Amino acid sequence: MTKWDEAKVLVTGGTRGIGYAVAGLIIESGGQAAIVGTDQGRATLAAHRLDGGQGRAHGIGARIDGTEASAARLVNDAVRAMGGLTAVVNAAGGATVGHALETPWSTWQHDWNVKFWGYFAVIRAAVAHLPAGLGVVVNVLGITGKDPNPRLAAATTINGALRGLTKILADDLAPRRIRVLAVNPGATDTDLLRLMAEGYAALQNISREQALAGLKASGPLGRLPTARDIAQAVVFLLSEEARMITGTSIDIDGGSHRGPA
Ligand SMILES: NC(=O)c1ccc[n+]([C@@H]2O[C@H](COP(=O)([O-])OP(=O)(O)OC[C@H]3O[C@@H](n4cnc5c(N)ncnc54)[C@H](OP(=O)(O)O)[C@@H]3O)[C@@H](O)[C@H]2O)c1
Repeated sequence: MTKWDEAKVLVTGGTRGIGYAVAGLIIESGGQAAIVGTDQGRATLAAHRLDGGQGRAHGIGARIDGTEASAARLVNDAVRAMGGLTAVVNAAGGATVGHALETPWSTWQHDWNVKFWGYFAVIRAAVAHLPAGLGVVVNVLGITGKDPNPRLAAATTINGALRGLTKILADDLAPRRIRVLAVNPGATDTDLLRLMAEGYAALQNISREQALAGLKASGPLGRLPTARDIAQAVVFLLSEEARMITGTSIDIDGGSHRGPA
């Protein structure tokens, strides 16, 4: 990527959790971030919290629904707000707890629309704006893309599909020296984790506290990554130091992944 003080990064899901932590590190490094969440008021507030009103964080309210039209609108808004675009971080999404055959069809479709089609549509709309030789895309996936989890059926399939997409887009964009990468968080301490704990509690007929404790103990390191832990890896991948890395992903899961890296 370009020097940090020239960085103009669109961060979907930047109003909370992992995306917010990514935007925070970009602002701390001297760059600009356009953060996207579903509500304009909350996005504006989050942007103000990030930069104290200095005009380097821009809040964009847009509901990502997997359509090309919604992606084009939010990318155009980001380009207008920052005066250009050097990188995209896709982090808007969730992870519904449920087995494949029991998860309602409408939930499958919603989750695929927001995350798989949402990430892809944002990348397609953004690519024309990314400068050759500098542009970077980082997709926030999830370790389920490598370690299928039957209790996170939709997220497992979405993250697996996005891993494949990350690699083929890296190949397609390599001639323009635009890099495409991913990170695979394990269970991470954000609002989403608490929502997932409620889902696990209902599925396993245990308390929310027991479900949370189970998630926290899920990796060999015995503690959960924070949103900032994930963001540090994302910011490394965005940086010039990672200029020879593309088409691959980093696991940030406290060592929970089994099998080949
Ligand atoms: N936390 C984990 O344990 C974990 C593990 C593996 C992978 N991940 C992945 O990491 C990514 C970020 O997760 P997180 O933990 O940071 O979640 P989070 O704390 O719940 O934050 C989700 C973010 O996405 C935005 N968002 C959600 N749906 C949206 C939509 N339809 N349109 C626009 N914005 C939308 C939210 O914006 P508003 O709230 O402002 O609307 C918020 O900024 C997700 O793709 C998730 O699957 C998380």
